[in-house]
Amino acid sequence: MRKGMTFTRFIFEEQRRVPESTGEFTLLLNAIVTACKEISDDVNRGQLINVLGSANTENVQGEMQKKLDIISNDIMLKALEWCGHLAGMASEEMENIYPISPQFPRGKYLLVFDPLDGSSNTEVNVSIGTIFSILRCPEGTTDPTEEDFLQAGTRQVCAGYVLYGPATNLVLTTGQGVNGFTLDHDIGEFILTHPKLTIPEDTNEFAINTSNFRYWEPPVRRYIEELFAGADGPRGRDFNTRWVASMVAEVHRILMRGGVFLYPKDSRENIGEGKLRILYEANPMSFIVEQAGGASTTGRERLMTVQPYTLHQRIPVILGARFEVERITRYHLIADSAD
Ligand code: AHG
Ligand code: MN
Ligand code: MN
Repeated sequence: MRKGMTFTRFIFEEQRRVPESTGEFTLLLNAIVTACKEISDDVNRGQLINVLGSANTENVQGEMQKKLDIISNDIMLKALEWCGHLAGMASEEMENIYPISPQFPRGKYLLVFDPLDGSSNTEVNVSIGTIFSILRCPEGTTDPTEEDFLQAGTRQVCAGYVLYGPATNLVLTTGQGVNGFTLDHDIGEFILTHPKLTIPEDTNEFAINTSNFRYWEPPVRRYIEELFAGADGPRGRDFNTRWVASMVAEVHRILMRGGVFLYPKDSRENIGEGKLRILYEANPMSFIVEQAGGASTTGRERLMTVQPYTLHQRIPVILGARFEVERITRYHLIADSAD
């Protein structure tokens, strides 16, 4: 007998706790997870099956696409459009929303996803992942438009990610805390290995791409300079730093052992309001982090309250240990009130 509850049992038991549940959501989640298992397999065998490297195409955000970006996107679309629980999908790799083909029934949910996060790391065998967020399709709408996807993070029904690292982990929230699962490749099932994940409110570890220091705003520079100063500075203790360049891996580390992550606003022309996208990166990760007791801000407001006005809109992201996020928010407030 193996130990640990399977993901399938976990979601069915969750469903039983909601008496009015139709089971649609459970089946949708199952389909998403199956798609991610397929992506996991391709990522795993990438070096052997010739799917690494650039596709030599650009996505709508002007970023070069990797072959695996496109493959993962296609896997998600094909694995999900038939299921009958979605009214539409949107992803980092598609300029416009993806309507469900007419031969399939429509459902009451919308799915937004980043099929492969951190894909600059595919050639170097460093952890990458898939991020997803489930939204409700407005009542009575069977042919959603882009506007129907433009929902603030607080309206998410579910958010999750699958991390393709030394082990494949699924982390999920439906607004009742955060649970983590590990893929058992032998039986093809995720097993509940990390129930009720929490983020300590304090930390001595931070993650930010410091090569962008000169582009940051003064409050972020102040915060990072104080961390650099360590025991000799105003914080009176040393801090450690990490930067994987895969948000999924950074958030996972924070859920496992704490920390704070920043991809702030900067003055580079192509970044402006931050690098990460609201709908399929910032919102789902913020939902998970908040549900684990952490916090998430743009520096100036709770990230999940921001109303998006375009599909691929970017946003500054600061998330993780609550005390650090509050401190950074305070530094922004002080800087803004001095202006
Ligand atoms: P993606 O691969 O989906 O485009 O996302 C990469 C993101 C994010 O995962 C990571 O935190 C960040 O870009 C890394 O950016 P830098 O290369 O600027 O450090
Ligand atoms: Mn990404
Ligand atoms: Mn991506």
